[in-house]
Amino acid sequence: MKYTSYQKGDAGDFVFSPENAEQADAYMARYPEGRQASAVIYLLYLAQKQNGGWLSNPAIEYVANYLDMAPIRVHEITTFYTMFNLKPVGKHLIQVCRTTPCWLRGSDGLTQTCLDKLGVDMKEVTEDGLFSVMEVECLGACANAPMVQINDDYYEDLTPERMGEIIDDLRAGKAVRVGSQIGRICSAPEGGPQTLMEPIEPPAPQGVETAEEGA
Ligand code: FES
Repeated sequence: MKYTSYQKGDAGDFVFSPENAEQADAYMARYPEGRQASAVIYLLYLAQKQNGGWLSNPAIEYVANYLDMAPIRVHEITTFYTMFNLKPVGKHLIQVCRTTPCWLRGSDGLTQTCLDKLGVDMKEVTEDGLFSVMEVECLGACANAPMVQINDDYYEDLTPERMGEIIDDLRAGKAVRVGSQIGRICSAPEGGPQTLMEPIEPPAPQGVETAEEGA
């Protein structure tokens, strides 16, 4: 397969681990022959994860070679989507949501707590390499605002005090509770559901014959 003929050294010092190469090939195989470039976002995601949370130029150009794309086309993608980091980030990348619901519920206080506690400015990495902070737009957990994303996990219903404790625990290598920090169930009201108290059976999909009906 021509897309896997790329060898280490062709574009610097980045090369997919065997596991990531396998995942990349499997993902590319979902697309019709000649359309493998459609997998570019996923391959960049894999490369960023393997590269410690950011995309170096060699990593970007490795992906371009892997997909037989002109490198500039891949650079264009990485500079358009804000989830691709083009500079090194800390081991724990704190993304503070600053969009209206989170802002109204105190996201400015979370941002300030992070910056003060870590002694860094936005997008800088702490000297120990453990943390960096950035602001992002809505992460889709507005009902539990304010919230942050740290690496792959959401931390919701935060206060500046709780944000500080989470940073302390991560720095100490302790396990940290993810999700709502006040015990909220999914996006139910604080204190528990007020309506729809009984578990609901999801309706059968429309237009699909069940085994019993078809028997
Ligand atoms: S506004 Fe913060 S998650 Fe939507």
